Parts: sequence; C-alpha cells; structure tokens
Amino acid sequence: MIKKEPAPLIETKSLFKSYFNETIETPVLFDINLRIDAGEFVAIMGPSGSGKSTLMHILGFLDVPTAGHYHFKGESTEEKTEDELARIRSTNVSFVFQSFNLLPRTTVIDNVSLPLLYHSGTRPSDRPARAMKAINAVGLTERSTYLSNQLSGGQQQRVAIARALVTEPEVIFADEPTGNLDSASGKHVMEILQKLHKEGHTIILVTHEKTTAEHAERIIHIMDGHIVKDDRSFARRIASQVKELK
Ligand SMILES: Nc1ncnc2c1ncn2[C@@H]1O[C@H](COP(=O)(O)OP(=O)(O)OP(=O)(O)O)[C@@H](O)[C@H]1O
Ligand SMILES: [Mg+2]
Repeated sequence: MIKKEPAPLIETKSLFKSYFNETIETPVLFDINLRIDAGEFVAIMGPSGSGKSTLMHILGFLDVPTAGHYHFKGESTEEKTEDELARIRSTNVSFVFQSFNLLPRTTVIDNVSLPLLYHSGTRPSDRPARAMKAINAVGLTERSTYLSNQLSGGQQQRVAIARALVTEPEVIFADEPTGNLDSASGKHVMEILQKLHKEGHTIILVTHEKTTAEHAERIIHIMDGHIVKDDRSFARRIASQVKELK
C-alpha cells in the first residue's frame, strides 16, 4: 500500500483574537500557531474561558481572527469575501454542539437531510439515501422515522453527528459534545467519533474534560488563550500498540 504524506488541512500563523465591546478590547487568543492534517482526531482542551470555542469558531469560519494568518487546504482565508467564507463553511465543515439543536417534532431522517437542502453537490433524489447512510453510521437505523423528541439525549446527539456527517465535510468540529450527557451516553458518542476517525474523517473536539479528550490521538492544551502543550503521545501509543501486534 502506498502511504500518502499527511496533507495540512488547517494552518495558523501568529493568530490573535480580541473581542471589542464599544471601546473595551478583550484579548482572548494569543499567537496561535497550529497545523492540523487531514485525517487527524484532535482535542482542544482547557479550562472554562480559555478560548477553546473562540478558536473553534475561527477554524470553522464562524468568526474571523483579529490578526494573523489562517490557511485552509493550503489557501489563505484572509482575502475571502463573506460569501466565499459562507460557501467554504457550508461545503467543508460541520458542527456538533453541546445542545443538540435538532428540530423538534421532526423525524430523524428529516433532521439529518436538512443540510442537504443547502448543499449544491447533492441531487434532491439522492437526499434520502445520503441521510440513511449517515444515520446508519451512528447506529440509529431503527430510529430513522422517530421524532427527535422521542429520543434519549445520547441518541439525539448521535442524530446531530449524522447531520454533521451527511454533507461529507472535510472536518467535523464538536464543541463539548458530551456536556449534556450522562457518562455512558457520553462514552458512546465518543466511541462513534473514534469510529468516524478510523474511517478517515478529520475531527476537532473541544472539551474541558481530560477523560473526553483522551479519546483523541492528539491533545492541544490551551490556557488563557495560549497553546501551552501539544501532546501527540496518544497517537504514538496507538501506533506502537499496532506495531506490537504485527
Ligand atoms: N462576544 C464576546 N465578547 C466579549 N468577550 C467574549 C465574547 N465571547 C467570548 N468572550 C470571552 O472570551 C473568553 C474565551 O471564551 P470562550 O467561549 O472561547 O471560552 P471556552 O474555553 O470555550 O470556555 P467554556 O469551556 O466555558 O465554553 C472568555 O473570557 C469570554 O468571556
Ligand atoms: Mg466553549
């Protein structure tokens, strides 16, 4: 098998972010230098208020940095117009949030199909099959015709993951996806993210919990807006286990 060189998907150089409320500047991110390759499963971990969601919003094109450089798939994002950024957002990235944000009194399959309505790459006749493929991937085949409010919290989050998957994005961002779940449902959700990673998806997880972060193969620690540690020992450990098995 030919081993492909890892390709940089996300690259930031000296990225800074401040929020401005009238005349008051709140600096939140400082000199963020980051490279994330296609196919990685990365956790961004840090205490409340350290800037994790802010960084995720910038990497996912929901917000823009105050200074510095952000390249996505080798292309600078600085000169892009609002429309171009919106197009990158709708075709290349998906989000899973702590609160599942499903449409209530709407079936699982309709919730999962929703992003395809705005997705130019999918023919209307292909939507149901695409949605079912994503629903199967999160183990909810038997629940596809249930209403979202007839599901448990863990099942609702799995629907949200299916909805994130359905457009086949370059990267899935998950911000505290287990934050509203009991520990067993949270573990199940993390196992699904691990399975998706093994199938080749790029996943960027934001969490303040060590046990959740340890499902990833790399943990970027953020403190007061600074990256203080970039720990790849999990990937090395997994790689050495694989080698021992050979
Ligand atoms: N719109 C805003 N205006 C001003 N300050 C903001 C704004 N949004 C966030 N902040 C500040 O930026 C800092 C980082 O916030 P952020 O939401 O990125 O933290 P977080 O690490 O995701 O925290 P949590 O774990 O609680 O979700 C906080 O101090 C917060 O008060
Ligand atoms: Mg947050």
